[in-house]
Amino acid sequence: MSAQETGTSIAEAARLLAAGGLVAFPTETVYGLGARARDPVAVARIFAAKGRPADHPLIVHLGHRDWMTAWADPIPEVAWRLAEAFWPGPLTLILRRRPGVPDAVTGGLDTVALRVPSHPQALALLAALGEGIAAPSANRYGRVSPTHADHVREELGGTIDGLVDGGPCSVGVESTIVDLSAGTVRLLRPGAVTAEQIEAVLGTSTAPTNDRPAPRAPGSDASHYAPLAKVVLANQGAVQDTALDWASRGLSVGLLSPELPAPLEGQVQWLPLPASAEDQARVLYARLREADHLGLAVLVASLPPETGLGQALRDRLRRAAGLGEPPDTPPPAAPELS
Ligand code: TXA
Ligand code: MG
Repeated sequence: MSAQETGTSIAEAARLLAAGGLVAFPTETVYGLGARARDPVAVARIFAAKGRPADHPLIVHLGHRDWMTAWADPIPEVAWRLAEAFWPGPLTLILRRRPGVPDAVTGGLDTVALRVPSHPQALALLAALGEGIAAPSANRYGRVSPTHADHVREELGGTIDGLVDGGPCSVGVESTIVDLSAGTVRLLRPGAVTAEQIEAVLGTSTAPTNDRPAPRAPGSDASHYAPLAKVVLANQGAVQDTALDWASRGLSVGLLSPELPAPLEGQVQWLPLPASAEDQARVLYARLREADHLGLAVLVASLPPETGLGQALRDRLRRAAGLGEPPDTPPPAAPELS
């Protein structure tokens, strides 16, 4: 059996990374596709394996917040406060990069994305390597992020050198991204660390995603996180009628929702979601993959409430539906009063 089928050991994974290899590894959010961040040739292999455009920047994963000083300068006080409050954990900070940080990692930007993940195997790998690991989510470009080692095997199995199997990811959606590079606190991507939690630590409000132009970011592309099925969003009260409506056109339809308002008719398949936003986040991407395995043409998904992790869920569902707005899209003009 190959190392990927059984899972690569931490020691072997660190050795592979040090030698310029590509290793997928678990984090608490989603699996990452890692390369030694100081090695531009290894980092270039990430882009080839994913089929991702080379100018899209990567997150550098660190073993401890003190490692920030090797990658960013200056490091504002707010960065240390957020790092202390939320690292290790699902928060990524955008800071001004230090000279010498490879362009391959930053996509040529003068900023760098940094995060200390909390998954014990990610921390063990970082400690064993002793330096930063550049890693996007371990999926093909534009597709759903992997939350189980099997998702990685399925999608990238032949193209990577190792895979650390850490079981299912406990958070299930990608980290919250906060841009601190311009003297403000701006939320670029909602995640398990919420704006409210960040505001509580800093005692200031965060700028919303849409208020200023942002660099091109793949997680911000409208059609990111997309399964093969067409994703249609509806409020919980309307999901079932919407699903039946699509099914009446002769299409195979799935219904992704925590509850069924009424018994389902034969042609619609229910993909149940758990009740809480936390549990929904944990299973969302596995459910989107299931929709593909079932060969569904349409997946009708209910939108969760906007509170807490609901923000991140709504964001990912909107992107799966091709409705996401990149951060540099101005908010829609207020309707004219007549
Ligand atoms: O939870 C996560 O963040 C996972 C795990 C593996 O850590 N990683 C992840 O990576 O989601 P990726 O590459 O799929 O998404 C990283 C996001 C992208 O939207 C990227 O554009 C943005 O971070 N990003 C990276 N560097 C940036 C920078 N300097 N400025 C703005 N956005 C940046
Ligand atoms: Mg990704």
